[in-house]
Amino acid sequence: MCSSISSYTMKTLVLLFILIGLSNSRIYSASIYGYPGSFNVLDYGAAADGITDDSQALLNTWNDACSSSAGYPQVIIPPNMIFLLSPMTLIGPCNSQNIYFVVSGSLVSPSSPSVWTGQDSSQWLAFRNVSGLVVGGSGTIDGQGKEWWDQSCRYHPELDGCTRLAPTALKFIFCSQSSISNMYFANSAQTHILIERCNGFNVNNVMIQSPGNSPNTDGIHIQASQNVAITNSKISSGDDCISIGDYSSNVQIYNIQCGPGHGISIGSLGKGGHSAQVSNIHVNNVFFYGTTNGARIKTWQVGRGFVRDVTFENLQFNSVKNPIIIDQHYCDVRGACKETGTGVQISNVVYQNIYGTSITDIAINLNCSMSVPCTDITMQLIQLTPATPGKQVKAYCKNANGQEYGIEPGPCLSGV
Ligand SMILES: *[C@@H]1O[C@H](CO)[C@@H](O)[C@H](O)[C@H]1NC(C)=O
Ligand SMILES: *[C@@H]1O[C@H](CO)[C@@H](O)[C@H](O)[C@H]1NC(C)=O
Repeated sequence: MCSSISSYTMKTLVLLFILIGLSNSRIYSASIYGYPGSFNVLDYGAAADGITDDSQALLNTWNDACSSSAGYPQVIIPPNMIFLLSPMTLIGPCNSQNIYFVVSGSLVSPSSPSVWTGQDSSQWLAFRNVSGLVVGGSGTIDGQGKEWWDQSCRYHPELDGCTRLAPTALKFIFCSQSSISNMYFANSAQTHILIERCNGFNVNNVMIQSPGNSPNTDGIHIQASQNVAITNSKISSGDDCISIGDYSSNVQIYNIQCGPGHGISIGSLGKGGHSAQVSNIHVNNVFFYGTTNGARIKTWQVGRGFVRDVTFENLQFNSVKNPIIIDQHYCDVRGACKETGTGVQISNVVYQNIYGTSITDIAINLNCSMSVPCTDITMQLIQLTPATPGKQVKAYCKNANGQEYGIEPGPCLSGV
């Protein structure tokens, strides 16, 4: 009897220990993961002090999240902390249909270009081949570009070993059905956000801030992508606020503030005789302040192919240098490009409901190619006035055909 009681006690004790052990391990795992599918970079050893390199911790976090079979895995980068990250690429495809990348803290780049020695200097952070990626979280991505700017060939051509290619802060390559929203970007070494070879990509409510004199710091560049929307964003930079490169189509740009910067540009296209293909671009409701250009299309004379079905509407300009401009003689070195019999065909471009002020005397400048003129251009309800009262503005159209109605300054287009 005695022995059976003691065996019963033993069994109870063992069970008790197992239960305690289990509940402990539950508490333990809950503290690591929050809930299944949540992957917090702090649990992977990130120091989050802005000094220690946290890229291995983030890479490990990403790899676990990406291979997780949870329905909605989330990479968590918590608020009020700074994560120093070396150049890195987060690679897919991931196991789940969607993956969330929640940046609430700050991601900062190494400030010294020497960190890139022996590495691809075109990028800092990149996502590659991830579909259903959702990036958000009201955090900051700080490119710390100053040392790159100080050695750029653009502003320091005399410098021995000046750099032409500096890192893009955040690249999305082959990322379809993805988005980025509610993020703040500052001081990228070069382009802030690049969307390349993505089909279905939304950018919403981002703020990008770099000095107006920082070299080549495009806000958002779209390249070889389809079905892209950029909405509700504010961009200040040293180059194009938004630029649209080759093989892009179905791009919606809506409700943007741009300035300082070089405006919203399609191109440059056709460099080196390349055949361009850009179509169905809709730019609507943009406020430009103090930019060098507003609505711009630029192509190289040696180029071929087309830009067609473009609408620029509901634009407001405040002291812009070239509010409306097509330059089919684009050349990076003035006068270095010869007259050729080729050109990128520009057709069906609509400019409507546009007003504001120009700081140069040519407020409308459609300078199209003699060999491949611009066709089917529509300009209506445009009123551009000089930024300085008492001055005059004029419209210049060359080899540009189409119709116009209610434009000031005008007339400009040659009727068909
Ligand atoms: C994307 O992932 C798929 C599947 O692993 C692979 O076949 C493809 O080569 C990858 N593409 C790129 C550009 O990395
Ligand atoms: C038009 O382009 C030609 C060729 O680049 C250039 O010489 C001319 O100055 C331009 N005109 C205007 C008004 O921009």
